[in-house]
Amino acid sequence: MRYSSRTEDIAGRGSEAWHLHFLAAERKRAGHPVIFLTVGEPDFDTPPLVVDAAVKSMRSGNTHYTEIVGPLALRQAVADWHEETTGQRVAPSQVVVAAGAQNALFCTIQMLVGPGDEVISPDPAYSTYEAVVGAAGGRMVQVPLDPDRGFHIDLAALERAVTPKSRVILVNTPHNPTGAVMTRDEVEAIAAIAKANDLWLVSDEVYASLSFEKPHVSPASLPGMAERTVVVSSLSKSHAMTGWRVGWAIGPETFAQHLHNLLLCMLYGSPGFIQQAGIVAIREASAEIAQMRDAYRRRRDLVAPWLDRLPGLACRLPEGGMFAMADCRGSGLSSQDFARRLLDEESVAILPADGFGKQGEGFLRISLGLADETLAEACRRIEAFCARLSAEGLSAAGTRRARA
Ligand SMILES: Cc1ncc(COP(=O)(O)O)c(C=O)c1O
Repeated sequence: MRYSSRTEDIAGRGSEAWHLHFLAAERKRAGHPVIFLTVGEPDFDTPPLVVDAAVKSMRSGNTHYTEIVGPLALRQAVADWHEETTGQRVAPSQVVVAAGAQNALFCTIQMLVGPGDEVISPDPAYSTYEAVVGAAGGRMVQVPLDPDRGFHIDLAALERAVTPKSRVILVNTPHNPTGAVMTRDEVEAIAAIAKANDLWLVSDEVYASLSFEKPHVSPASLPGMAERTVVVSSLSKSHAMTGWRVGWAIGPETFAQHLHNLLLCMLYGSPGFIQQAGIVAIREASAEIAQMRDAYRRRRDLVAPWLDRLPGLACRLPEGGMFAMADCRGSGLSSQDFARRLLDEESVAILPADGFGKQGEGFLRISLGLADETLAEACRRIEAFCARLSAEGLSAAGTRRARA
C-alpha cells in the first residue's frame, strides 16, 4: 500500500537519535546493570497533592468531554503562571491547552507553516523539531550553535539564514540538548530579526523553571513581540508530570482561535480530571517545584565538574535544563563510538548528540534525571572507561613510537 509523502517527512533524524537508548533497553532486559542517562524523564514522582486532585476529580464524575481548548480555570492558571515566569500578562483567551508541549508545538507549526515554508532553528535542536516541521510540509533550516561558545547562537548566521521562504524562527531556552540559556541580549536580537523580517517566533519554554543562574527571558515579553510570538510549554519537566500530558500554547487571540479549530478535529479536549490536577499543580505545588529545581542544580554541580576532570572529556556547567553536554572530541572517538563502547563496557547509556544535529557530533547528552547516588555511580563508571581509553591511547602511541 502507498503512504503519503508526509509520512516520509515525519520519520527523520529524530527517530534515529534514540537508537542507543533502545539498544540499552534490550541489554537491561537481558540482565545487564544498565544506568540510563538517555531520557529527559524526571525521576521524581508527581507531587502527591496533584495525584490526589486527579483522583478526587475523577471520583466526582469529571470524566466527560471538556472544553476543546481547556477549561477557563486551567487557562487562567496557565496565564497567571506565564506572567509570573515571563512578566508578560496574557488573557486566558490567548491560552490553548494541549496534550503536552509536543502536541502544542505540533499544532502551532501546523498553524504557521505550509508546504515549502522554512523554519529556522538552531543546530543542535530537540530531536522532534525536524519531523514536526516536515509534517507541515515545511523545511528546517538550521543555524549552527558554536560548541566553543557554550552553544550560544551566532546572531549573524541566524540573520543570514533568512530567505523569502522563511516563516518561523523556532527557539528553545533553556536548551535541550546543550543546557545553554539565552541572555536577554540574545533574545532581544532574535526578536529584532523576527520583526525586521516579519517572521513568527515560536519559543519552546518547557525548561523555563530550570534556569539556574540567569533569569529566563521569554521573547513574548519583549515590546512589540506578543503579536508574533507563540510560547509552548508544559508541566512535564517543571512538575515531574511527563505522563499526564498537560501542555499549552500561548499566542495572539486569532492564533488561539485557529488552534481551537485544529484541536476540535484532532484532540477534542483533554481529560477533565487531568486538567483539574493541572490547576492544582500550578496553583499549589510551588514548594515541590523549588525542591526539584534545587535537585537538578545540585546534580549538575556533581556531574559536570566530575566529567570535566576526566581524560578525553570536557563538560561545561549547563546553564539550565536537565542535561549535561559532555565534549568527547578529546577522546579520539566519535559520539556514536564513545556511547556504544560505554554501553558495552560499563553499561552506562548516554545519547550521542549527533542525533540532535550535525553540531552535536563530538558531544554526548547526559540526563540529570536520576538520584545523586546513581549519577555518582554512572560518573565512576565513565571515569573507569575514560581511564581505559586513555591507557589504550598511550599504549597505541608507545607502539607507534617503537615502530618508528
Ligand atoms: C525541548 C523540548 N520541547 C518539548 C518537549 C516535549 O515536552 P512534553 O512532555 O510537554 O510534550 C521536550 C521533552 O523532552 C523537550 O525537551
